[in-house]
Amino acid sequence: MMFERYRKAYAPEATWPQWNNDKETCIGSKCRFCFETCPTGTIKWSSKTGMPYVAGVGGFDKACINCYNCIAVCPSHSISMSGGYKVISGRYKTAKDSVLREPMPFQDRNVPYSEIEKELTEVERVIYRRRSNRIFKDTPVPEALLHRIMEAGRYSPTAGNNMPFMFVAITDTKLIREIEVRSMKILQWFKNLYLNPNLFKRIISTVMSYFMVNQMDQRPFFPLDKAARRDSNLFYGAPALILILMYKRCISDPNLDAGICAQNIVLTAHALGLGTCYNGYAATAFGYLPGMRKKFGIKYPWKVVTTIAVGYAKVKTDRAVPREDIPVRWFTR
Ligand SMILES: Cc1cc2nc3c(=O)[nH]c(=O)nc-3n(C[C@H](O)[C@H](O)[C@H](O)COP(=O)(O)O)c2cc1C
Repeated sequence: MMFERYRKAYAPEATWPQWNNDKETCIGSKCRFCFETCPTGTIKWSSKTGMPYVAGVGGFDKACINCYNCIAVCPSHSISMSGGYKVISGRYKTAKDSVLREPMPFQDRNVPYSEIEKELTEVERVIYRRRSNRIFKDTPVPEALLHRIMEAGRYSPTAGNNMPFMFVAITDTKLIREIEVRSMKILQWFKNLYLNPNLFKRIISTVMSYFMVNQMDQRPFFPLDKAARRDSNLFYGAPALILILMYKRCISDPNLDAGICAQNIVLTAHALGLGTCYNGYAATAFGYLPGMRKKFGIKYPWKVVTTIAVGYAKVKTDRAVPREDIPVRWFTR
């Protein structure tokens, strides 16, 4: 029994979303956005048919993270998806049953989002329509706009009004590139360990995944594989990057405070017509790169919690998509 749990820690048996592209409506090589912006590299391109298709990564059957990015970027509404990622057995757990549905803010109306959007507040529309952007124009983001979105971060609620965060705003694209390249050197090590069929490496990743269950889910390794093939481009060509730093020694849960602050920034950016994408990989890499922390003046107890790529999106992703249902437990009078 115990051994079984170890065995299934690495690459557990899972169900993956089903992906479908309507070849009649897909505009093929005129677009390619689903292929170019798929974070995991699940969507491949067939030069033979001039159409996207789905295949696994690094010897795995599938790699999709259910993000619906492909649906959000598709100009011809050709892509559909059903089902979701669910770990069937083993050490990892998926919390839910992968039932996907569109935003349904009105409890008594089970209708498509497009039919109720006009009744929503601007805040709700921004929340439902914001998507991560994974392809940016070169156009620089004015400093005044970056200031404006960080100001929204400053006004986030924090435990005890402690505000345990600080921002590093980078528009020097050479520095952004340096962070990408240096981060990828560390991240590649983990990726190569995990996405490698060598028996010895599998045993190591199995043991690691047993002890680091939060860090070793199979899906985060696929985007790294794609970033490596895309010349270590972790930030998708964004011309600006914000590092959210957290003061580790503050009371309560500064991680949570910093997360709320980051989301204020991301939502405000969307409302102002900017595109964003969180990048957790670079934040992890900062933890292993003392030289880079020094370069940006990051000293203990400050820590990079997350990074946000900011820019003008090359392709519109301003669209509500289905999301996994989450359980709500009511206790009513
Ligand atoms: C803390 C955090 C870290 C993330 N890191 C990455 C990342 O490194 N690369 C990436 O492409 N997306 C990253 N994302 C974006 C998620 O993949 C995305 O939010 C999720 O798939 C839902 O899609 P949506 O943002 O378009 O709604 C991250 C999101 C969060 C909140």
